[in-house]
Amino acid sequence: VPSPLIDAHGRTISYLRVSVTDRCDLRCRYCMAEQMTFLPRRALLALEEIAVIAERFIARGVRKIRLSGGEPLVRRDVIELVRRLGRHVGTGLEELTLTTNATRLAEHAEALFDAGVRRVNVSLDSRDPETFRYVTRHGDVAQVLNGIAAAKVAGLRVKINAVALAGINEHELGDLLAWCGEQGHDLSLIETMPLGAIDEDRVDRFVPLTRVFAALSRRFALTADGHRSGGPARYWRTPWGTRLGLISPLTANFCDGCNRVRLTTEGRLYSCLGHDDQVDLKGALRDGGLDAVDAAIDRALAIKPRAHDFQIDAAAPAVARHMSVTGG
Ligand code: GTP
Ligand code: 5AD
Ligand code: SF4
Repeated sequence: VPSPLIDAHGRTISYLRVSVTDRCDLRCRYCMAEQMTFLPRRALLALEEIAVIAERFIARGVRKIRLSGGEPLVRRDVIELVRRLGRHVGTGLEELTLTTNATRLAEHAEALFDAGVRRVNVSLDSRDPETFRYVTRHGDVAQVLNGIAAAKVAGLRVKINAVALAGINEHELGDLLAWCGEQGHDLSLIETMPLGAIDEDRVDRFVPLTRVFAALSRRFALTADGHRSGGPARYWRTPWGTRLGLISPLTANFCDGCNRVRLTTEGRLYSCLGHDDQVDLKGALRDGGLDAVDAAIDRALAIKPRAHDFQIDAAAPAVARHMSVTGG
């Protein structure tokens, strides 16, 4: 019987995040450089291999899987993977979900729902067309809002993610919260994390969420909410009955309760977003099958760090790889 996933610090791993592609149709300034070199296709795990590895994690006690990227919906046939993993929802898995930029969500919303997805997280840093275009470099906000609307019609709950950026969207976050409230969407605000080379200075744009929260709570009645999604967010209840989540890796570290590991597009398993330690599950699977995969997973758990050590004012990013490689 496969053993449960417990790391050297006693934390149980019940959540697997999978980056199904490092590619994206947008180039958000805090995430990517304008010119990116993506992985060659031959370096990727096949969707079948992702499924086999994910099912091994389910057998070992993972209860939640999130497909992410890059943009998961730009990978061809990703819906096939969603359908396959969706068969485990309600038996092994409690939740199968995605984090998406929603540019292609309108096309896929119904298929996602039919496959067993009930909730998606959508990155939307601004509802203003010009600001949205500026942040994403290529994005059309109308297309994204259309994707969000289609998701709602298909029966998917939508949580909005917004990275707080000084001088770009900080002044708009109150209006974004009100819009989310009216639409029935939860909103999570995120501090920029120093992952991968980008063209801009992250320090200039960094906003501590303590400052955003102070401004929001002057304008809206926000009450503490004990809810935990098993993730990094701390939640508040809004006047609309929706939730406001704050993800503050820089100002309020949440690593003690970490329950997750990350599978990259290339089949490497990272036990922490903020460290370089990893094991090669693709090689293990191809050379040694599931026993080798199990052994590699155990090695990754044994070296899972106690915490990240992100510092926004460090001279170089904490890790060289972009968030799109590890799936956030
Ligand atoms: P829920 O299931 O809705 O709680 O989602 P989530 O917050 O786990 O996932 P999502 O993909 O929406 O990620 C939101 C933000 O949280 C992204 O910027 C992630 O990179 C960040 N995040 C998620 N997990 C971790 C983590 O373990 N460490 C750090 N530092 N950031 C994380
Ligand atoms: N810091 C914080 N959040 C980031 N995201 C991407 N790169 C970064 C970064 N460097 C966010 C995206 C998306 C989520 C998965 O991660 O906006 O909502
Ligand atoms: Fe866990 Fe690492 Fe994330 Fe901290 S940064 S919460 S230890 S994965």
